[in-house]
Amino acid sequence: MEINRVIKAVFSPTGGTQKAADVIASVWNKEIIDIDLTAADTDFSQYSLGRDELLIAAVPSFGGRVPPTALERIIRIKGCGTPTVLVVTYGNREYEDTVIELGDALAAEGCIAIGAVTAVAEHSIVRNIAKGRPDEEDTAILKEFAEKIKDKVLNTEEIRMISLPGNRPYKPLGNMNVKPYADKKCDNCGVCAKKCPVGAIPTDEPYKTDDDKCISCMRCVKVCHNNARKINPVVLAVLNGKLKKVCGVRKDADLMI
Ligand SMILES: Cc1cc2nc3c(=O)[nH]c(=O)nc-3n(C[C@H](O)[C@H](O)[C@H](O)COP(=O)(O)O)c2cc1C
Repeated sequence: MEINRVIKAVFSPTGGTQKAADVIASVWNKEIIDIDLTAADTDFSQYSLGRDELLIAAVPSFGGRVPPTALERIIRIKGCGTPTVLVVTYGNREYEDTVIELGDALAAEGCIAIGAVTAVAEHSIVRNIAKGRPDEEDTAILKEFAEKIKDKVLNTEEIRMISLPGNRPYKPLGNMNVKPYADKKCDNCGVCAKKCPVGAIPTDEPYKTDDDKCISCMRCVKVCHNNARKINPVVLAVLNGKLKKVCGVRKDADLMI
């Protein structure tokens, strides 16, 4: 089939998913439309995709599921038998039902997964796990996958959803009780409030967090130029200990096609 445009819809609070999605999109010598799913004020229903457009849908795994905020937003994008590539990143633990959940939700909106990629990215909470990934080795693997996907898309006439890893029903949504707060170093610059995907930080009092709204995505920690936002060090140490036991072996990117 012929592809005239690539639509890259990405939910990437701390940048790892963005990097992976960019590599997957990089092999297409076509117009690329970027949709930032962390931007709360975008009307995602303005995007209505055709069969000659390729959707690259990229999200991180949160507790083995698609972050609910990302899911709510991405399903506003409508397709009509639109070929779709799923990109799921995870912090070297497991991605469990994230890929299948994303594929199912998009299929219901007319975006059909004809390929899927999973890739390890730096763990956004415990950042010494999978630190710096995707790295050069990951990028080379992802580039190879991107070429294979392109080949498949260009040589396929009938769009059929591939079989996706994971289970139905999906595992229950977890409650990540890691809510960042600001310490004395906060200079009220307001960048975190502006960049929070769910408006959990008041713009007039950016040293506060609305814990009910916060999705623990770590965007505020990442964007703070003063390193003022952090999570409870005891909680972090416990999480680090738990994850170190199960994330010790380097996992590589996978391609489903
Ligand atoms: C709330 C939350 C839950 C997470 N759950 C998992 C998980 O279940 N398995 C895993 O391997 N990594 C998990 N991670 C790590 C992220 O999936 C990983 O760091 C991802 O690449 C972050 O994407 P980003 O850099 O685009 O924000 C979690 C991170 C957060 C913030």
